[in-house]
Amino acid sequence: MLKTVAVCGARPNFMKIAPVVEAFAQTGRMQTLLVHTGQHYDERMSRLFFKDLGIPEPDINLGVGSASHAVQTAEIMRRFEPVLLDHQPDWVVVVGDVNSTIACGLVTTKLGIKLAHVEAGLRSFDRTMPEEINRLLTDAISDLLFVTEPSGLENLQREGIPDEKVHLVGNVMIDTLKANLEKAGRSTILKDMDLQPGGYNVVTLHRPSNVDHVETFSRIADALEVIQDDLPTIFPMHPRTVNNLSRLGLADRFERMKRLRILEPMGYLDFLKLMSEAAVVLTDSGGMQEETTILGVWCLTVRENTERPITLTSGTNTLVGTDPARIVSAYRRCRSASVPDAPMPDKWDGQAAGRIAEIMCSR
Ligand code: UD1
Repeated sequence: MLKTVAVCGARPNFMKIAPVVEAFAQTGRMQTLLVHTGQHYDERMSRLFFKDLGIPEPDINLGVGSASHAVQTAEIMRRFEPVLLDHQPDWVVVVGDVNSTIACGLVTTKLGIKLAHVEAGLRSFDRTMPEEINRLLTDAISDLLFVTEPSGLENLQREGIPDEKVHLVGNVMIDTLKANLEKAGRSTILKDMDLQPGGYNVVTLHRPSNVDHVETFSRIADALEVIQDDLPTIFPMHPRTVNNLSRLGLADRFERMKRLRILEPMGYLDFLKLMSEAAVVLTDSGGMQEETTILGVWCLTVRENTERPITLTSGTNTLVGTDPARIVSAYRRCRSASVPDAPMPDKWDGQAAGRIAEIMCSR
């Protein structure tokens, strides 16, 4: 039996780890301990995803919670080390680019245990993003790097990572999407909210660069004002964004947007249904750029760069930055055109986690 520890911590990790632990179990040759760092802990940021995705209850929850980057990262490391010392796995698997990813990766490699990184090689080339630092460092110390798209292979090659460590396996987030699409189709969210397919927009924003400063957040609000005037706009709001609305004095402004509906963060299945029938999705999320590509829904990314360039060339994604005029004109273009019929990215076929399990077993 190959002993593995699989790590998850924050919301975007849960849909990535779900197919991985399932594929490991299916080999019959891998024994997996699931560790949740507790980076995200709210019912709606964490538990709901375990329920919706049928992820087994974590074997261990480190319960770290929120703090500054340094404190959160250090606390995860402090609490993760005894788990590895006690369990002595052959491999640790980390996913994505959050603080839990680098914190657990660093502990693993310092103990001389092998580290596998799922979703390796993505680069925004913007080192002001905390995730970019997490990606660069995690890839530099990993023994196996599982890549989602060709740009990842080029990035890792340029950074001097030996080819034999790197495998293009596809996208585990799309494994989860494909496995749950039918179930999500039974969600009653549209009916409950009195929405028609194609008759509304979806917005999510949570990146510090967009929601932590009043000037930027106000510019995005200028665009949202116009967009919600065109179609009802649903905005399930991340806790960071909720906190900032009042801290930055923007709550009244959002309240005056009568067709913009602010909701609590949603579970996976309801949100997948909501996203799949939307006219346009406006977001700063990484995962949603990929999900809309597969769903064939327009995506406007409120950033100047993306670490997922395949969603621009093979997908439905456009970078719109934070200038309101640019956002609105891109929005109008989407509203007047149908989604291009582009070929899907290679290996985004729902089988990525199976490939990962196979490669790990063959090592
Ligand atoms: C983290 C990830 C980011 C990912 C995002 C998805 C890092 C560096 N960032 O950012 O890449 O896109 O998750 O959500 O790891 N909070 C709650 N309840 C929770 C979790 C957070 O209220 O369950 C609030 C707290 O006020 C906290 C703030 O949200 O201070 C930020 O949480 P944190 O985990 O530090 O970063 P995210 O912005 O969620």
